[in-house]
Amino acid sequence: MTLTMNPAIDIASSTGQVRPTDKMRCAAPRFDPGGGGINVARTVAALGEPVRAVFPVGGPSGALLAELVRDAGVPARTVEVAGATRESLAITDTSCGAQYRFVFPGPRLTAPEQHRCLAAVERAAQGARFVVASGSLPPGVAVDFYQQLAELLTDLGIRLILDTSGAPLRAVRGGVHLVKPSVRELAEYAGHPLPDRAAQLAAARALIAAGVSEIVVLSLGAEGALAITAAGAEYFAPIPVTVRSGIGAGDAMVGGISVGLLRDYALSDAVRLGIAAATAALGTQGTGPGHPARIAELFSAAAPVR
Ligand SMILES: Nc1ncnc2c1ncn2[C@@H]1O[C@H](COP(=O)(O)OP(=O)(O)OP(=O)(O)O)[C@@H](O)[C@H]1O
Ligand SMILES: [Mg+2]
Repeated sequence: MTLTMNPAIDIASSTGQVRPTDKMRCAAPRFDPGGGGINVARTVAALGEPVRAVFPVGGPSGALLAELVRDAGVPARTVEVAGATRESLAITDTSCGAQYRFVFPGPRLTAPEQHRCLAAVERAAQGARFVVASGSLPPGVAVDFYQQLAELLTDLGIRLILDTSGAPLRAVRGGVHLVKPSVRELAEYAGHPLPDRAAQLAAARALIAAGVSEIVVLSLGAEGALAITAAGAEYFAPIPVTVRSGIGAGDAMVGGISVGLLRDYALSDAVRLGIAAATAALGTQGTGPGHPARIAELFSAAAPVR
């Protein structure tokens, strides 16, 4: 099961040149369901594993989001909220290829609405082994929301995989099985730059020593990834790829790791599947997951460097 507290409709289009004042005529827009947990669920579904996506929806944009998620082949459990679901806008300037991304805060969720989200998780997670919570928290949501979720899931005996950053990550004290910060996010968490491998490992180990998470998968962008547990650390080389869309590499990675853990792979193999899924997503136009056959091919290429 995945949880996306701040989902969005991702609108993508292009124009000749981005400039101020003038109306910029854009190509016909593409609408994709968006938000961390929804993207993770799309990867899990593409890899053929059962998944449910839980997320709040509000207004006409919320109804459209629910439809887009179902069209993507992901079973959804929506929680009705009063505020309208947000939209995100990505415009590519075709004169130079630069992509401009505009992201809104999302609707304010009331305390009862947040409570209903947790109640929906409790119902939708029945029979699940893993819950993936991914993305930012919309306005009004308690900063320790993911800590509340971790405690609920601990009581239910379900493992939490968390991908978030900033204040919502800092508010997590424990109960997480695996956390996947990017190096930028972990540096923000640590409060200082992480210029080299030693600094990166020390920051990840501090998270584990503090009891926040059992496993840290630190994604290093074009430099690959590190998997750190109390028992040790392993480096994973990236797979060279021509990047068609940088959107959602991390989400695809979390989806691949989750599928690996669901299949009882060793952690290193789960991370390899995550890297394969991320690489396939980078090579795919738009925000969707890569093709399963491509992910399988990349999986065999993603061997760890020892
Ligand atoms: N340019 C690239 N070339 C090859 N692999 C890449 C590249 N960028 C990302 N990856 C792969 O995707 C994984 C996840 O990417 P990244 O570390 O950028 O996470 P992210 O969550 O997308 O980042 P952020 O949340 O900070 O935007 C990496 O560990 C790596 O395997
Ligand atoms: Mg990320």
